[in-house]
Amino acid sequence: MSTDDCTHDARTLEGAGVVVVAAGSGTRLGADRPKAFVEVGGDSLIEHALHVIAVTGIGEVVLVVPADRVAHAQEMVELETGCGCVHATVVAGGAERTDSVAAGLAALPPQTEVVLVHDAARCLTPPEVFTRVVDAVRAGAAGVVPGLPVVDTIKVVDERGVITATPERAGLRAVQTPQGFAADVLRAAYASATTATDDAALVEALGHEVVVVEGHPHAFKITGPADLADAERLLAQMR
Ligand code: CTP
Ligand code: MG
Repeated sequence: MSTDDCTHDARTLEGAGVVVVAAGSGTRLGADRPKAFVEVGGDSLIEHALHVIAVTGIGEVVLVVPADRVAHAQEMVELETGCGCVHATVVAGGAERTDSVAAGLAALPPQTEVVLVHDAARCLTPPEVFTRVVDAVRAGAAGVVPGLPVVDTIKVVDERGVITATPERAGLRAVQTPQGFAADVLRAAYASATTATDDAALVEALGHEVVVVEGHPHAFKITGPADLADAERLLAQMR
């Protein structure tokens, strides 16, 4: 297939690159293989994520997978990106998510201006969320995360489970991926990184402003078996 006859959008998000982290083991899902290689609706989470990214028009992808899965992932990537619209690289991840992001970041071309970091586990995130995040970084934000209002009341507890605070719900957001950053800001954050559950926290720790844009319910993270069943239902509805 050549660029002329592929169905992907033009490269509307030129200068942006995305690191897709897929190197986790998926302990909570408990499948017979690493979570990102599990199939839902006939495709693996990695393949779903690559389909969406191709539609966004982002031309540069680094896929981070377990070290013993690099060759397998390379085959998937070649099938998904054969048209040449997307340039994709596969690298081995590390023990913690932070290690995997760092490995992916190191493999992005140095001229990348906007870096997105995306969980393969959020493989049904719609293209519009990617666009919103890149647009907000281009508009000047150091960091941008998609998020949704929290529906449950959240409690802060101490080590005994005793509630120590009840934050005002209106000021809370449940955040998702892709998280987007000016490339130099994210590289600086990772140069001094310890570990954190999301990339925004590392950038916040450097004193940069990170803004929340509207996320999407379909950007939920496939964590346990019930989430996989939800994804299966959602894909069936979308067909
Ligand atoms: N991830 C990664 N490298 C790690 C750990 C996580 O690339 N060392 C990725 C996962 O593949 C996933 C995303 O980070 O796409 C979010 O992590 P999570 O949902 O916790 O996935 P797992 O770590 O695989 O699952 P679990 O914690 O249940 O083992
Ligand atoms: Mg994990």
